[in-house]
Formats: sequence, C-alpha cells, structure tokens
Amino acid sequence: IVVGLIIPAAGAGERLGAGIPKALCALGAEALLVHAVRAGAGSGVVTTVVIAAPPGEADAVHKLVAPDIPPGVELHVVEGGSSRRQSVRRALDATPPQVDVVLIHDAARCLAPAALFVAVADAIDAGRDAVVPGLPVVDTLKQVDETGAVVATPDRSLLQAVQTPQGFRRHVLERAHRAAEERGDTTATDDAGLVEWLGQPVHVIPGHDHAMKITRPIDLVLAEALIAGENS
Ligand code: CTP
Ligand code: MG
Repeated sequence: IVVGLIIPAAGAGERLGAGIPKALCALGAEALLVHAVRAGAGSGVVTTVVIAAPPGEADAVHKLVAPDIPPGVELHVVEGGSSRRQSVRRALDATPPQVDVVLIHDAARCLAPAALFVAVADAIDAGRDAVVPGLPVVDTLKQVDETGAVVATPDRSLLQAVQTPQGFRRHVLERAHRAAEERGDTTATDDAGLVEWLGQPVHVIPGHDHAMKITRPIDLVLAEALIAGENS
C-alpha cells in the first residue's frame, strides 16, 4: 500500500475562541498543526502529506511545517473550504495518484501518537477498507428532544467515542465523498460517517487517550499538561 496523510486544518476554532485559526494556536512552544504533522509525517507509514490550510494561510502553513516533513515525504498545502468535508475534498483532490490508502487526521487531535497512525495503516493493510480508532465513552449519554425531555438512554457498553487518524482505501473514500456531495450532506462530522452512509463496513480499533480533540479551552489545559509530562 502507498499511504497518504490528509490533515484538515482549515477550521476557525470558534469554540476554542482564540481569535486565530485553531491549528495555528500554540501548544507548548509550537502550533497544534506542527505537533500533528510531526507525529503523522514522522510515523514512517506515509509517503505524502496534504494539509488543508485556513483561508489565505497556505504559504505560511507550508513554511511552518516544512521542517517537520522527513526526507522522502512529499508535502502539499491547499486552502481548505467552508466545511470540514470540503476541506478534506480539496486535500483529496491534491493527493498524488499513486496514493491508494488515505489517513485523515484532524489538526485538532495534535497529540495522537505516531503508533496510532501505524496501527490504522496496519489494519488497512490487513484487509479492512475503513478503520477508525475509538475508545469506550465515560459519560452516560441521553438522547433528548428539542424541549430537553429524555427520549432514550443508549446502552453505553455499545458506544465508542471515535478519533482520528481514520484510514480508508482511497476508492472507498472518494466514492463516499462523491455521494455526500451529491446529496448535499451537511451533518457528517467525520469521514467514516460518509462511508457508513454507502453501507460499507467501518471497523473500530483501540484509540489512544492522547488522540483527544482540542475543542474548548479546557482541552488545551489537558494537552499542555500532557506535553509538560513528556518533557519532564
Ligand atoms: N476543519 C477544516 N475545515 C473546516 C472546518 C474544520 O479543515 N472548514 C478542520 C479543523 O481545522 C480541525 C478538524 O477539521 O482540525 C476538526 O474540526 P473542529 O474540531 O470542529 O475544528 P474547528 O471547526 O476549527 O472548531 P469549531 O467547530 O469550534 O469552530
Ligand atoms: Mg468545527
């Protein structure tokens, strides 16, 4: 397999509220995006990296991450779109033709370890078409209606909180994105959801605590503690 890495990094980061795109926010001494590139591009399993950058930031992003791209790994930076799905679509269009397996990794999950990229790629190599890391949920989840009334309590033991990198056979991912475009999907929050819509199997492998998503300010506090622990 020839594995390409796509990093959607074009989001505004409204919930973090830093006033700059989240991928460019600092965690320790470096931008979230730099941490994500270092782990993914340095994992040893990818041959190309395509980043979807925030609007107007493609050149700056290229300069920012280039030092962390290992020799022999190709780097492309495109401008992202107005939704995560569009950003992934644009990066997929810029992914070289020889790539037949794609790992998609949110810049926001910037502390996902290199070993997780390897595990996802290995699962694809072993024959799965779509693989996502996941962990058991810790909270009890309630389905509610618009008024706040509880409709159902799904059995927690059957639920997994999924992460990235998510891995796909490229032809499956391309088909899923084309179908999503045609129906004008605006609800999917990950790529696996688009593949599921096709009725294609998606397999969950064990995720990692450090692959947590930085969404709100409190997540940044936890991430800072994680890297401080690693540096001490
Ligand atoms: N993303 C993207 N293009 C978009 C929106 C999101 O590439 N138009 C990326 C983000 O940069 C992030 C990942 O998708 O790496 C996951 O999205 P999320 O955590 O929601 O980030 P933001 O959309 O930036 O945050 P918010 O929803 O709080 O604005
Ligand atoms: Mg978002």
